[in-house]
Amino acid sequence: MSEIMEEPIIVKKGPYEVEVEAGKTYYWCSCGKSEKQPFCDGAHSGSGFQPVPFTPEISDTIFFCGCKHTKAPPYCDGTDKDL
Ligand code: FES
Repeated sequence: MSEIMEEPIIVKKGPYEVEVEAGKTYYWCSCGKSEKQPFCDGAHSGSGFQPVPFTPEISDTIFFCGCKHTKAPPYCDGTDKDL
């Protein structure tokens, strides 16, 4: 069985800086179609993409990937520099 991987949309070349709350679950958009970046709004429906759940243990500032090509979702890993 072969699987065709769609490419995610590059929303932003750079991270989204977001203050997150400990114990709350966030859903990072992996497809790039959401209008509520960097989080999922359900726009991935019908594509091969699924949001990535993220529940921080401490309240913190997180740099969420905006280019959707990170190798360490949901975090920005600097991959945007090579796109
Ligand atoms: S809208 Fe992009 S993963 Fe849900």
